[in-house]
Amino acid sequence: MKIVEAQRICNLPPYLFARIEKLIAAKKEAGVDVISLGIGDPDRPTPVHIIETLVREAYNPANHQYPSSVGMLTYRKAVAQWYQNRFGVELNPETEVVSLLGSKEGIAHISWCYLNPGDTVLVPDPGYPVYSGGAILAGAEPYYLPLKPENGYLIDFKSIPRDVAKRAKIIFVNYPNNPTGAVAGEAFYRELIDFAREYDILVCHDAAYSDVSFDGYKPPSFLQFPGAKEVGIEFHSVSKTYNMTGWRVGWAAGNARVVEALGRLKSNIDSGVFQAIQYAAAAGLTGPQDIVAEQNKVYQERRDILIEGLNSLGWNLEKPKATFYVWAPVPRGYTSDSFAELVLDKAGVVITPGTGYGQNGAGYFRMALTIDKERIKEALERIKNTIGTVTF
Ligand code: MLT
Repeated sequence: MKIVEAQRICNLPPYLFARIEKLIAAKKEAGVDVISLGIGDPDRPTPVHIIETLVREAYNPANHQYPSSVGMLTYRKAVAQWYQNRFGVELNPETEVVSLLGSKEGIAHISWCYLNPGDTVLVPDPGYPVYSGGAILAGAEPYYLPLKPENGYLIDFKSIPRDVAKRAKIIFVNYPNNPTGAVAGEAFYRELIDFAREYDILVCHDAAYSDVSFDGYKPPSFLQFPGAKEVGIEFHSVSKTYNMTGWRVGWAAGNARVVEALGRLKSNIDSGVFQAIQYAAAAGLTGPQDIVAEQNKVYQERRDILIEGLNSLGWNLEKPKATFYVWAPVPRGYTSDSFAELVLDKAGVVITPGTGYGQNGAGYFRMALTIDKERIKEALERIKNTIGTVTF
């Protein structure tokens, strides 16, 4: 039998971390003690009260049946309450919140709701690969918006050609930013909302890292700015805030029409989040939040060790205010790929090549702070032994 894949899957590259996972597995197989600064996957435990809620709810047979695909009202109310407490944002849990199997799933599926084949979608570059992946599956054409260090890695709306803006249907935006660690403030969000209104472009803001922040800085939500709900939605999850990446539970919130469309799409293709997990996530969102501040202290210490260590080798990096990522240029004489390969082969340290996030990531790499500080120190030592001091 001849098996032929559809064009849309042929156009889809292998997922960045699926490729990296294979490299790590091969090294481990060869007996290397690999230190991974690759995927941003929190290493610290999920808070106990969340786990206890999961266990308790898992004993209730009612929770073993199909959940509602848009999420239990209890869960959606917890999301709305969290937005109120954290950002002062009012959300109607019945119409303005939909549960997701992690924000990645919703980010991939929103393109199916709003992009027809051939449509233009604005995608930050470097950026989380799921923005373009979902759009490509929907047959749309990403137009990449370069995030440049001289602009603080913010989108430069003035540089978007008018004809491109006129035909674009969605803009993906993500602050605090993966992979650069950049943050955005009120002026940026106001400009974004004006831009979206002027050209009728749906804003899809990814706020996954809003609660991983340092030095007293508290990132805002896109939804807290006037007009946001009129032009878009925000994707979020409990993954990064409460160390729950494996649980697959998130949400989209904001514009009711968009929330309804995403919920309708999802009810046709998935059956929602296990109810015991929804109760547990709700316990996280409505429970004590001091654990988040405690955890950020741990990341901050790791950040300082890593940045100061790299700077002692010749880098000149500023400390990011948010996310658990460090974005850095590769030393002179290397490309993103050749530097990542060298560091993996000679030091057994996994870093993510900047090109994994798009063409504008060329010449950069990303390190995640999701391992213990002693391992970060060891990674630095191994990198030092491999390359010595560096120039740019
Ligand atoms: C990353 O490392 O970029 C993220 O952990 C990936 C994700 O959130 O899916």
